[in-house]
Amino acid sequence: MEYKTVESLEILRKEATAEFEAIASEQNAENFRVKYLGKKGVLRDLMKSLGAMSPEDRKTFGAAANELRADIEGRFNDAPWQNKTGASSTDAGFDPTLPGYPFPSGSLHPLMKIRDEIRNIFVSMGFSIAYGPEVESDYYNFQALNMPPFHPARDMQDTFYIDEKTVLRTHTSPVQIRVMENVKPPIRAIMPGRVYRNEEISARSYCLFHQIEGLYVDENVSFSDLKGTLLAFSRRFFDEKTHIKIRPSYFPFTEPSVEVDVECFLCKGKGCSICKQSGWLEILGAGMVHPNVFKYCGIDPEKYTGFAFGMGIERIALLKYGIDDIRLFYENDARFLKQF
Ligand code: PHE
Repeated sequence: MEYKTVESLEILRKEATAEFEAIASEQNAENFRVKYLGKKGVLRDLMKSLGAMSPEDRKTFGAAANELRADIEGRFNDAPWQNKTGASSTDAGFDPTLPGYPFPSGSLHPLMKIRDEIRNIFVSMGFSIAYGPEVESDYYNFQALNMPPFHPARDMQDTFYIDEKTVLRTHTSPVQIRVMENVKPPIRAIMPGRVYRNEEISARSYCLFHQIEGLYVDENVSFSDLKGTLLAFSRRFFDEKTHIKIRPSYFPFTEPSVEVDVECFLCKGKGCSICKQSGWLEILGAGMVHPNVFKYCGIDPEKYTGFAFGMGIERIALLKYGIDDIRLFYENDARFLKQF
């Protein structure tokens, strides 16, 4: 059919509209587009007829043809299924290959990053994760950890008291007790969390910080299991060739007790400002679970042995990132946090 009059355009509009309304599939939509809106489509061909027309007709027919094309094109582009069938080539304003608008995203706090790294290493060794309350009873924070009320070791941890029998926990070790009360050996767990101490705030200490505690209880657990576990951890966290050094120490809830140093990962033991020229960095406290602690938890110390260790996350983060002031972790200054 040839379209040479304004009336014939109305027939064309009806035909096109009927076809448009019948579009149900992507393929039909594309056929429609090629037939009517493509470069050689019916609606473009209309303009070819203009040459043979009188100037008067050219004007009215041209305007009607333009209007018709805009009408069909508009309806086609605005059809709800256009979103599903993707952009058509007639839809010049949309380029799906352009990059999106940048969307600012936050990042993990450096302490949480270190915590996750440590946690993932122990989880891969088969440790599970346990949590406990930050407002803790004197019993769990001290007594069951072999620190009765008169015990001088209580002085090692400047404590925030809520009332006579309640404290803000000064370490994550009370979670050990809660786990041992509830789980029968074998026990393999790590216990991350926030702890509080009433210390004077300085570049080195803050009134709250984070620890990760570890506990391993079974028959025949020996001190060499502790050494092997901590060496494997240090080699994965710091450097695969690092050495550790174990020094005797004292904690009321472990016997024997030790402190563990790793070879300074910056100078590899040669001596630098981070390790204060010693070549070693102290990273954690550890030991074999004290029989009294087992007794408090109802675990038979004749049958079972175990080791425990605890480390400060801030301390490790300070060392690892070479940060010289612990307070930076708590100021939420975006300029600081952005660097991690
Ligand atoms: N709870 C001790 C502290 O905060 C660390 C520790 C945990 C030591 C477990 C030995 C065993 O200092």
